[in-house]
Amino acid sequence: MSRFTSDPNDDFDLELDRYADYEAAFTERTRRKVKANHKPKKSQTQQLDSIAAVEGLEGGFNITYRPSLFEGGWLLDSLRPFYEMGLMTDVLARVKGGKEANVYRVAGSPNAGADLLAAKVYRPAMFRTMKNDSAYREGRSTLNSEGHVIKQSNNRITRALKKKSDFGKAVAHGSWLMHEYGALQTLFNAGASVPRPIAIAPNAILMGYCGDDALAAPTLAEVRLTAKQARAAFDTVLETVQIMLRHGMVHGDLSAYNVLYWDNQPTVIDLPQVVEVDGNPNARSFLERDLERLTQYFGSCGDERDPHTLMRALWIDAR
Ligand SMILES: Nc1ncnc2c1ncn2[C@@H]1O[C@H](COP(=O)(O)OP(=O)(O)OP(=O)(O)O)[C@@H](O)[C@H]1O
Ligand SMILES: [Mg+2]
Repeated sequence: MSRFTSDPNDDFDLELDRYADYEAAFTERTRRKVKANHKPKKSQTQQLDSIAAVEGLEGGFNITYRPSLFEGGWLLDSLRPFYEMGLMTDVLARVKGGKEANVYRVAGSPNAGADLLAAKVYRPAMFRTMKNDSAYREGRSTLNSEGHVIKQSNNRITRALKKKSDFGKAVAHGSWLMHEYGALQTLFNAGASVPRPIAIAPNAILMGYCGDDALAAPTLAEVRLTAKQARAAFDTVLETVQIMLRHGMVHGDLSAYNVLYWDNQPTVIDLPQVVEVDGNPNARSFLERDLERLTQYFGSCGDERDPHTLMRALWIDAR
């Protein structure tokens, strides 16, 4: 059964152009590009419609958080499937606007298993960013909305991906999300320290939230650990790296910026770019870089370890 509530054929119909203004509100670079490409401005009526949409949806989808005009439509469209699945009831706050996604604190329904959840809503143009670089994608299959590999023999999709048509971009976008969600599922089930995956929609992932109702967990980069805390946290993060490797994955963007710290517990986040060890010749160097960044951070907290020794031990263990 599809994890999406809508027709799977619609999953990739992201109507990117419709959201060009939303993107423009976030990046200066994109704003210029959007203007150059002549994206018509919303009429006043359309703008009023957007505001009305944010006021709430049929059936009572509350939204305590006040999104900006252009954020509202995208946010509600992205989160509506979770609301319809009966997993969430309200958007409480925006935790952070990242390069690729905005993360929101949302109120979970009883059957979601927690009062507070994190919803990662991908931004429309995320697949044009750095991380969606071919070095990461090498050897990685394209996944459909069911998480199944799209076969090379599927000419329509293969052609669209190559041509980077709107449909091709949308397929790549869907695959990117599925890789993050699939990695979370595998790793969480294997006992790694990652957020609990709850549901996926065409443009968003619902997962366990780190933090409380006032404050989301800071990243390691935002906290100063004692040497004792650093040792314990580093051990936990390395365990997660080891579990990833044993499942044939390298994070590929692991650093103090992608580890949350709450209640003395580190949680590794941000996995859409996971690199497959078999098939990607860059996997080893991604792992080396991940370990160098981690040893640098934890070293600055007083837990000095040699990245090369760690690398050897982890690589041999996983082979
Ligand atoms: N499960 C979570 N619980 C609490 N906060 C979270 C959670 N997941 C993400 N965040 C917050 O949202 C931010 C962005 O998340 P993430 O790193 O996954 O997205 P991103 O767009 O790839 O970000 P960036 O490009 O800045 O790395 C994180 O730095 C963190 O502050
Ligand atoms: Mg991040």
